[in-house]
Amino acid sequence: MISSTTQIYPVRWHQDKVLLIDQTRLPGEYEVVEIHRCDDMAQAIRTMIVRGAPAIGVAAAYGMYLGAKEIQTSDRDVFLKQLEAIATQLRQTRPTAVNLFWAISRMLKTAYETLGTVEEIQACLFNTAQNIQSEDLQTCKAIGDNGLSVLPNSPDKLTILTHCNTGSLATAGYGTALGVIRSAWSAGRLARVYADETRPRLQGAKLTAWECVQEGIPVTVIADSMAAHCMKQNAIDAVIVGADRIAANGDTANKIGTYSLAVVAKMHDVPFYVAAPLSTIDMDLPNGNLIPIEERHPSEIYQVGETVICPTGVEFYNPAFDVTPAHLITGIITEKGAVKPNELSSIFALY
Ligand code: MRU
Repeated sequence: MISSTTQIYPVRWHQDKVLLIDQTRLPGEYEVVEIHRCDDMAQAIRTMIVRGAPAIGVAAAYGMYLGAKEIQTSDRDVFLKQLEAIATQLRQTRPTAVNLFWAISRMLKTAYETLGTVEEIQACLFNTAQNIQSEDLQTCKAIGDNGLSVLPNSPDKLTILTHCNTGSLATAGYGTALGVIRSAWSAGRLARVYADETRPRLQGAKLTAWECVQEGIPVTVIADSMAAHCMKQNAIDAVIVGADRIAANGDTANKIGTYSLAVVAKMHDVPFYVAAPLSTIDMDLPNGNLIPIEERHPSEIYQVGETVICPTGVEFYNPAFDVTPAHLITGIITEKGAVKPNELSSIFALY
């Protein structure tokens, strides 16, 4: 275990390589994986050593830089062509989180807009990757502050339910939904977090719970199926979740189970907030039906650890994300402020 005062950075540049906290091994083991090549970064994203929409974006940006360093040419056009191939490879790792595509596009834009030698383009790509990382940290802190202003006004400290992991591990190092929760904790407004375990990969039980323990935030882990019961007992003041992609109309793709949580929250009159950076908003998609949903290997369903839990002869379906319709969302908290889902375009104009 790392010390409770250590800031958690899931992606770090160190000398000539990227260091990733291996999120597939937490909370049992804290291991750091060294990434020297773009291929290895693509594999790390695909296998979820690094995961969470903004963290994937940061990792992909460094993946682009590592790939750019591997290109053996001094010819600008040849370099740009090979960089496009690297972008294609990284884009194929995970389909839903738009931050991945956003970061890759930003890296490509840097390359095309930089005049000069291949070495100069590589240097600018490194700067852009670092900027994407440091901006995300600032962005998440702003989301945390903005989230404080929308939390229910109550003389009592709040109990907030969250889903999946949206903390330091899922971003450059602060968190979106868990960032709001951290800010509420620092402001003395939080009593406790309820963390959905988040089947099938258990990001809530493993990662959110681990982060809360590191921060000293009181946390109760529940099975996903218990959320309705907890709300009925008035145990939950608000739900805050992250997002992998938000369509222009506010429909929001997030970890599978988010949609049912939103339905249940509506039923019990519990406010349901989405916290996400503007880089998660895909204004090119008018609604959530167009968001590509990743399907992962069925072993995530039929296996727990090494143990197979289902009989043979069964079929499986394993969508990793679902789309929550905008009308179930009370507000979307961004770094530029919190808005109703149907007001997204006004805030996006500030971007
Ligand atoms: O499959 P994952 O673990 O990458 O999914 C992560 C989520 O769904 C998060 O809620 C989302 O990326 C927001 S992270 C700040």
